[in-house]
Amino acid sequence: MTDALVQALRGALGDRGVLENPEDRARFETGWRYGKGTARCIARPDSTALVAETLRLCARHGARVVAQGANSGLVASSTPDASGAMVVLSLERLNRTIDVDAEGRTVVVDGGVLLSQLNEALLPHGFWFPVDLGADPQIGAMVATNTGGTRLLKYGDVRHNLLGVEVVLGDGRVLSLLNKLRKNNTGFDAKQAFVATTGVFGIVTRAVLQVAPVPRQRATALVACSGGAPVLELLRALEAELGDVLSAFEVMSANALGPVFTHQPNLRRPFAQLPPYSVLVELSSTLPADALHLENVLEACLGAFLERAGDAVPDVLVGKGDEFWQMRHHISESLRGEGRMLAFDVSVPRSRLPAFTADVLQLLAEKHSRVRLCDYGHWGDGGTHLNLLWQEKDVADGRALVVALQEAIYDLAVNGYQGSYSAEHGVGPHNQRFYDRYTDPLVRSLCRVLGDFCDPGDLLGTVRLE
Ligand code: LAC
Ligand code: ZN
Repeated sequence: MTDALVQALRGALGDRGVLENPEDRARFETGWRYGKGTARCIARPDSTALVAETLRLCARHGARVVAQGANSGLVASSTPDASGAMVVLSLERLNRTIDVDAEGRTVVVDGGVLLSQLNEALLPHGFWFPVDLGADPQIGAMVATNTGGTRLLKYGDVRHNLLGVEVVLGDGRVLSLLNKLRKNNTGFDAKQAFVATTGVFGIVTRAVLQVAPVPRQRATALVACSGGAPVLELLRALEAELGDVLSAFEVMSANALGPVFTHQPNLRRPFAQLPPYSVLVELSSTLPADALHLENVLEACLGAFLERAGDAVPDVLVGKGDEFWQMRHHISESLRGEGRMLAFDVSVPRSRLPAFTADVLQLLAEKHSRVRLCDYGHWGDGGTHLNLLWQEKDVADGRALVVALQEAIYDLAVNGYQGSYSAEHGVGPHNQRFYDRYTDPLVRSLCRVLGDFCDPGDLLGTVRLE
């Protein structure tokens, strides 16, 4: 039986623009960590006008649509549901424009451009887009997720660097807000409706970003800490003495870092015995080294700190930035190879991270002794990734364990510590239940109004914000 919608999409987008065979659809149907469904077809428009046409056709046929970038998200928001009725709208062919304004220090970029492609194009101008991640997502999806990453401490998240957007609304109307101004206080900032709302109000087809000069030098250290308290003391000392040039402060527990050396044999253990926490510290600056030698100032600051801290900070390694970053970026993938995993991306006021982590450990010891905590993350921003691991053979009912852990840990973060149940990975089917539970009903009503206006046919996305 021919599918009239698929046929109409083929007519509009051409044969390359529509994928229908199961083997062609496969990479769009399974998310990197969570999310697995079946798509009616994959639509791959290569212009804003064709994104609009795709949405008009889907609306006419009453087909629901999920937008997809590089499909590297971590909350299942880019994959279709199991119905086989949804269209995946992939932005991967909408990737031609990267228009750099060197004097303005801005760039206009198509939604389907990869972060790596953007940075490659910016480099000859001496710029980069500093929202730095282990993955290589597309820019439109980075806006829709408001990604944070490892250098948020210095540069902020996507929202902080976003000047304008172009968005196609659910019924095909195009909202062009391609503002290039840094200062523009003229009422409601409508682009914010499309930031961190995972494409349910519209699909981001273009963005205007402010970019940053590439640092001329970096200095990196790995600091061994005996627990959470000295980690926070180190953060305070670094911010007080070197805050202007501090660009990353990433914390890795021994449980998170250990598996990296099993799964990445080219990486060597930095310390003979991994300490409870290894902290990756990075300084960066556009100043030349003869004006300010970052490695020297880092060594001096850490040397003095080491003396004050005594046994709490048993070791420091300076240099080897690439190797340290490789360790950091391989954690997530290495932990996948260690058993069943459930991931939490939470944040709490950063001064409370040690107490929060201790409470999680106590909860596991008392109620789930087979579950191992592998925590790591962006302590400078109050963010921590609690990846929980267990062996399938140790657990009778895996589904019940997942529910029990989610209930307990999200409640602890949100109610016990005034934290967030999703610090940087956004909302999706993976955490929809907790969005529903923790979001103010008035905010949900506001989302309903926005949704009625932006997506009148209620066709976009697999998550509900209302
Ligand atoms: C990270 C991802 C999981 O920080 O957010 O590695
Ligand atoms: Zn992260």
